[in-house]
Amino acid sequence: MYPLIRTRRLRTSASIRRLVRETIVTPDDFLVPLFVTEGKGIREEIPSMPNYFRLSLDQLEKEVKELWNMGLCSVLLFVKVDDKLKDNKGTEALNPNGLMQRAIKTVKNACPQMLVMTDVALDPFSSYGHDGIVAEGQILNDETAEVLAEMSVSHAQAGADFVAPSDMMDGRILTIREALEDEGFTNTGIMAYSAKYASAFYGPFRDALDSAPVDMANVPKDKKTYQMDYANRYEAIRETQLDIDEGADIVMVKPGLCYLDIVREIRNEVDVPVAVYQVSGEYAMVKAAAEKGWLDHDAVMLEQLTAIKRAGANIIASYFAKDFVRSLG
Ligand code: PBG
Repeated sequence: MYPLIRTRRLRTSASIRRLVRETIVTPDDFLVPLFVTEGKGIREEIPSMPNYFRLSLDQLEKEVKELWNMGLCSVLLFVKVDDKLKDNKGTEALNPNGLMQRAIKTVKNACPQMLVMTDVALDPFSSYGHDGIVAEGQILNDETAEVLAEMSVSHAQAGADFVAPSDMMDGRILTIREALEDEGFTNTGIMAYSAKYASAFYGPFRDALDSAPVDMANVPKDKKTYQMDYANRYEAIRETQLDIDEGADIVMVKPGLCYLDIVREIRNEVDVPVAVYQVSGEYAMVKAAAEKGWLDHDAVMLEQLTAIKRAGANIIASYFAKDFVRSLG
């Protein structure tokens, strides 16, 4: 009686495959990163991120309305800051009328129900291109955490629903949580970039914001003293657990595709939602190969997004959000 069990039975037609499919990506899964720049009428394509743009505030307003109509209900904001406004302490980040603060208000005015998350780190504001304050060749931890807490309060005052610290300083989640509580922002959430690796996949993003570490004496050339070593796995669990203990509402693993073992591990360990950031370099690779006709763009995109969700992601931050919704037809 060979063979009684035939696993192929569950693959015989598209309908049965639909019925038994375990993982389905939907627009609800997405957090849409947006890059904001000064000016008017600006929609500049980022050279290393085809079909992704830096938007001035008027264009941001149009964009979020379009996202909302597509069923994309959450955005993650980043700003490109003029070089003249950058300094070592990221002072401009605290400007109540700074670009980020205006961007938050623009989104909330255009689309009050859109969930607004903001990136919290010093690099777009730092004259050295680091996520923290630089002193004698080091990145200062506790001093940076204090600035990040002030920055978080400023974003909350402007109307952000969640702050997303992406800096990897120790103890910053607790510092931020306490500052938000002290100022009465008890409902402002924290999505912590908990297992954020020092990755070469961030290259296009640093082009987008002109935020790469500068090449200067006594300034670290990379972010390896704060972002994690990509060889490490147990450390990711420790980082994530600490962020939860300090008050993170959502934790994140970043980048995505090369780190899906970490995503699964963390999903199995913790009880809070797990976000995954499919980063700029991952997006750029698919776009470049598709432009050359070497890969089927939509098929590869869907396979990657599904793999991220299958690994355990509850939230996917991805530059493919709109492409994905369009691909649904
Ligand atoms: C800044 C930040 C980075 C990204 C998100 N927030 C860059 C970095 O850490 O150097 C990368 C996102 C991407 O590559 O898409 N702290």
